[in-house]
Amino acid sequence: MFYKLTIDDLTLRGRRLFLRVDFNVPIEAGRVMDDSRIRAALPTIRLAVTRGARIIIASHLGRPNGKVDMNYSLRPVSRRLKELLDRPVDFAVDCIGTEAIQKSRQLSDAQILLVENLRFYPGEEANDAGFSQKLAQLCDAIYVNDAFGASHRAHASIVGITKCVRQAAGGSLLQKELQYLGMLMGNPPKPYLVILGGAKVSDKIDVIQNLLKSCSHMLIGGAMAYTFLKAQGLPVGKSRVEDDKLDVAKQVIELAAEKNVKLLLPVDHVIAKELRKGTEVRICSIRETPDDWMGLDIGPATVDNYSKEIATARTIFWNGPMGAFEVPPFERASLSLAHFIAEATKRGATSIVGGGDSVAALHKSGASEHITHVSTGGGASLELLAGRPLPGIEALSNH
Ligand code: 3PG
Repeated sequence: MFYKLTIDDLTLRGRRLFLRVDFNVPIEAGRVMDDSRIRAALPTIRLAVTRGARIIIASHLGRPNGKVDMNYSLRPVSRRLKELLDRPVDFAVDCIGTEAIQKSRQLSDAQILLVENLRFYPGEEANDAGFSQKLAQLCDAIYVNDAFGASHRAHASIVGITKCVRQAAGGSLLQKELQYLGMLMGNPPKPYLVILGGAKVSDKIDVIQNLLKSCSHMLIGGAMAYTFLKAQGLPVGKSRVEDDKLDVAKQVIELAAEKNVKLLLPVDHVIAKELRKGTEVRICSIRETPDDWMGLDIGPATVDNYSKEIATARTIFWNGPMGAFEVPPFERASLSLAHFIAEATKRGATSIVGGGDSVAALHKSGASEHITHVSTGGGASLELLAGRPLPGIEALSNH
């Protein structure tokens, strides 16, 4: 299924391998707050260790704008990686140059070096050929991309470097992501539910249109639901609406009908006068939304409707929270849905959750371990599901 070279196709023993990962993780006071992206790359790292590669790991962290900024140092990540692997991980304070090259040459088989943030250089985001060459000096012409979450970026360590090595292959995480997300665009077992939330229709319109070709049900929540509700002439009060996207919402409703997709919208919601912890909240049907209140989460009747669909689904994809989940109590519906999806998975459904906020809601619910696949890609998974090729995949060597 994967039409590109994979890590399994490479001879690794005794050779320096450049391994690009996505260790763009939240860090507070020098500590990694969520290590899921590091854990997700462990199978590829372990495979490279077992096969005797001399492993040079590189990643970006945050957006330091091409300048050295220690708030975005990967050093805390190197400590966490060492703990998770339970083996030494050396660290180079620069991702290119003499020290990094020397350290890469000092590695023995199965040893690991993590280099400092790639985005400390403007050449990374500019996909600069000279910078790509310098990165390639760290390896013996073999490269693996396991940074699914960054594969929508045509950057030097994702695209440019592939032209400076002999073999550029995909890692295990990259393959797994493509397998599961690819399944969503194919013909997975039905009922196939797509649950979409988040702030804006405009961010996801291409994904909606593409997935309407393959899903049987689409359930909408989050602020983006209000653009659909207003497009149907329903009252939405002060809720967040994209007024310039009302026509787009109408087209989606028509397209769903044409494709025989059951489109479900909220019938009730949790409303407040402002988005603030401790603010007064009420529950009302959409039809009764007062002019000066705003919807901040889907309501219990909607959760009930959605849970019934989830209970009988065989394939479920969830992207985007159902409400303003970072402010209590507007996280409730997202947490409930996470549990319903976990229950459906235990009964045999395949569940895939993608997107930074829905993954955060999933972790908060404690139900992550029951989900079939939790994607590490935010923007990358949306690009892929919109049907667009990812530059980082396209750049890999063909078989
Ligand atoms: C992500 O967090 O989605 C990836 O690491 C990509 O980060 P970026 O949006 O800063 O390129």
